Amino acid sequence: MASPIKVCVTGAAGQIGYSLVYMIGSGAVFGADTPVSLHLLDIPPMMPVLNGVCMEIADCALPCVREVVATDDPSVAFKDIDAAFLVGAMPRKEGMERKDLLAANVKIFKVQGQALDQHAKKSVRVLVVGNPANTNALICSQYAPSIPKENFSAMTRLDQNRAQAQIAARLSVPVSDVKNCIIWGNHSGTQFPDVRHATVAGKSVYDAVNDEAWIRGDFITLVQKRGGAVIAARKLSSAMSAAKAACDHMASWWQGTPEGSYVSMGVFSDGSYGTASGVMFSFPVTIKDGKWSIVQGLPIDDFSKGKLEVTGKELCEERDDALAVCSAAQ
Ligand SMILES: NC(=O)c1ccc[n+]([C@@H]2O[C@H](COP(=O)([O-])OP(=O)(O)OC[C@H]3O[C@@H](n4cnc5c(N)ncnc54)[C@H](O)[C@@H]3O)[C@@H](O)[C@H]2O)c1
Repeated sequence: MASPIKVCVTGAAGQIGYSLVYMIGSGAVFGADTPVSLHLLDIPPMMPVLNGVCMEIADCALPCVREVVATDDPSVAFKDIDAAFLVGAMPRKEGMERKDLLAANVKIFKVQGQALDQHAKKSVRVLVVGNPANTNALICSQYAPSIPKENFSAMTRLDQNRAQAQIAARLSVPVSDVKNCIIWGNHSGTQFPDVRHATVAGKSVYDAVNDEAWIRGDFITLVQKRGGAVIAARKLSSAMSAAKAACDHMASWWQGTPEGSYVSMGVFSDGSYGTASGVMFSFPVTIKDGKWSIVQGLPIDDFSKGKLEVTGKELCEERDDALAVCSAAQ
């Protein structure tokens, strides 16, 4: 076996962390033959809970897990890491405005960006899950200037998986038959789940569904509001599916995308498809040798253009609010 990959999970004592550390330890992300060293970070009051998680990791007797470091100190958690899952964030409390949540979380991601800059490998690949994920990823990267900005991404894979599952259910086909569903924009209610370019067993999803009103209406709303529907049912937010999506995202980044397939990731916009540049916008990407490239040349109709504009505008507003919070805190 090779030397272990050092993988940090923040918010490791939380809901998503509980599923995620198991999945990473089981070899689902970096490969069944690749040993991992798990660096688990949470805040001081959560250390007893994190200790319990560590006990359970030991009890899983996972062959890939070579070492577990549990800490409340980012400088220890980020030391020489190769990959980071930044899950830890303040949850939205009842009555809390979106702006207040953004302000609280942006400060966390500013501090973590600074700590990554100082302690992580320069080649570290950082996946931000904690919300607002796109803007947190942007801020994190901004405060880690010695790490290439292409090494930061935000998770929209859960939305992609949700879209894929809804299409599979609608067509009564296995979910693995559905490919190339795209999530454009922000991981929020303005995201645009797009199946115009998706295929089912090699044929167009659009033709197979044959119901444009549904694709442009209920399907989009269903995916956009799926997180809320899970909260209403479970009284807790999506955790198992979020952990699975985080693993899918990092596995694609590590192992690449198969020929002819793409995945959605929040990455730095270069203005492709007329989007605002300088925000973390979810695009379809292909990945080779650990580097993502935005899929170019997909035809975009006026309906889609309108959707891209709305979600891009929201991302610009979030970015401006986040930068104002950061400069006020300086
Ligand atoms: N991008 C997505 O698709 C997606 C999907 C689901 C959830 N989320 C987001 O993921 C985040 C985590 O969700 P959860 O259900 O696991 O929440 P949770 O509240 O169960 O766990 C969050 C954990 O983060 C820890 N934490 C808080 N501040 C921290 C800090 N500064 N450093 C390290 N750890 C810190 C908390 O102590 C807690 O243990 C939330 O922001 C949620 O909105 C994103």
